Amino acid sequence: MGRGRERSASARPIFVFLSTHRLRFTLNGSPQSPEVRADRRLIDVLRVDLALTGTKEGCSIGVCGACSVLVDGELLSACLLPAVYVDGRAVTTVEGLANGETLSPLQDAFIRDGGFQCGICTPGQLIAATALLAEHPRPTDDQIREWMMGNLCRCTGYHGITRAIKTAAAA
Ligand code: FES
Ligand code: FES
Repeated sequence: MGRGRERSASARPIFVFLSTHRLRFTLNGSPQSPEVRADRRLIDVLRVDLALTGTKEGCSIGVCGACSVLVDGELLSACLLPAVYVDGRAVTTVEGLANGETLSPLQDAFIRDGGFQCGICTPGQLIAATALLAEHPRPTDDQIREWMMGNLCRCTGYHGITRAIKTAAAA
């Protein structure tokens, strides 16, 4: 009897109030001002609200690097990041790497040096490598391997990615 009452009490729905926030940030240089609920992740705001689907979602737990973005130049995982975190900041996604029709040296090198096969990890690889070259313009093989270990790839075996980063660094 007592147990039955406990079960019905625990089955009651729990309502949680979540505030909404008007954010202001730049995305690849363009001002944005979406209104987002406090629990929205940055990757959902990017892909769903702002229709920039270049940033991919793989593991959703901060392990694979597919969702890598730059926030004020810092390499972060958009699947882990509350969107409210980017208020007042500058976000760069893979769509922001090219200059109009001109690919960045990294994008060009990934194509020429076989830096991808299926391409699903490539936006994250490019963003991570962009951050790497900003920090180490002439990275060693060890620096490349260590920096890029947070970006997983199931296809290329990583040699093409390393080769492309070295080509871009030398450009
Ligand atoms: S989807 Fe974010 S790290 Fe894998
Ligand atoms: S190119 Fe296919 S997972 Fe990296």
